[in-house]
Amino acid sequence: MSTEAERGIADNKPDFDFHGRALDNIFDEYEEILAKRPVGHSEKYGGFWYIAKSEDIFNAEQDPDTFAVGPSMILPSFGTDVPLIPIDIDPPAHSDFRKILLPMFTPMNIKKLEPGMKETARQLAEEVLSSGEVVDVSAKLARPMPTIIFSRLAGYPEEDWPIFDRWIDEIIYERTAKPETAYAAGRELNDYFDRLLDEREKAGPDAAKDDLIAQLMKAEVKGRKLTREELLSYCYLLFLAGLDTTAWAIRSALWYLAGNQKAQQQLRENPDMIPGAAEEFLRTLSPVQAMARTVKTDTVVQGQELKAGERVVLVFGAGNRDPEVYEEPNEIKIDRENNRHLAFGGGIHRCLGSNLGRAEMVIAMEEFLKAVPHFERANDAEPWHGVGPLTLKIGA
Ligand code: HEM
Repeated sequence: MSTEAERGIADNKPDFDFHGRALDNIFDEYEEILAKRPVGHSEKYGGFWYIAKSEDIFNAEQDPDTFAVGPSMILPSFGTDVPLIPIDIDPPAHSDFRKILLPMFTPMNIKKLEPGMKETARQLAEEVLSSGEVVDVSAKLARPMPTIIFSRLAGYPEEDWPIFDRWIDEIIYERTAKPETAYAAGRELNDYFDRLLDEREKAGPDAAKDDLIAQLMKAEVKGRKLTREELLSYCYLLFLAGLDTTAWAIRSALWYLAGNQKAQQQLRENPDMIPGAAEEFLRTLSPVQAMARTVKTDTVVQGQELKAGERVVLVFGAGNRDPEVYEEPNEIKIDRENNRHLAFGGGIHRCLGSNLGRAEMVIAMEEFLKAVPHFERANDAEPWHGVGPLTLKIGA
């Protein structure tokens, strides 16, 4: 049996972190770990091994028997200790839960939503234009767009939307510094869905309603309906997965373009390049930098022993900058070809909403570039990551 010192735990990367302000300089950190220590140990969040190389992450994604998601792939937790469906569920139950919503997110179904998405993006871009010369486009476009699109799709009543940003901020962004705030917001969010499900049950089945909540309420798993606990867990996860990720993706694309006039003008003049550019922004500035797993049976990655029961973090953001896969990995090239990345994961838990997230990102960029003839950063201190303010100078 090897000791912790022999396994290199003591002298590893005890401070390695992938949340909050740690993301400010994370790309330098990725470069270093990819070159020198592609598997390492951090003492954060109860201790975890990180895996940084693209191929190792893909292999772990493909091997859920060795790298399970239970008790949770979200580290630290999203303000709840209940396993979230389907993200925290391992095979065999996982596929039963996942397939309930798969048909809603096919490319064909997302295509049908595009006219509505374009209209929303156009209106928001016009509001940005009429808001003066210095505008927070995170508050005016990147955050409201997914709230409007996803809330309609999911069936969240419009009068409830104003509270959503606070829950997201407290549950996702404050959970590391203020876990008790995240748990309190988590209870509020759970109670919100409990009330919404009560109301929907009381109203009875409505043939005209085809939203995600309706789909979940009528779904069957192995011949039975979902329990209230399962419904709540599914609703909770969809809310946190469907809004914030896309807001970050839109904000980070605009953050980059605001600082790079040449790329901005190139995309404005060649909108057919926007989908490719979106992939490059997802590769380099992805909203989900890492997700956790738990080792089920002892294994070895890059010569490092990982023991059953230990936590592992797949650092998608590092894998997406692996020099063995990408030429000049830290360069953002909006015309990069063959851009297979890990922004949506890569195994059985691959993002269910990837077609929707992509479409929203592309349409937001298209409409914003069309409506706004020039924009640049007004505050260089605003970071590339998160959904905080992005203050832009808007001009001719
Ligand atoms: C650009 C936006 C988005 C990004 C970058 C993103 C990224 C991810 C990532 C990295 C995972 C985990 C994959 C893994 O560990 O293998 C995931 C899972 C998931 N995402 Fe997304 N996501 C985005 C948008 C969305 C949207 C709009 C939805 C709306 C429904 C969504 C729903 C989900 C669900 C349900 C899962 C869990 C799938 C499963 O466990 O089978 N995501 N996403």
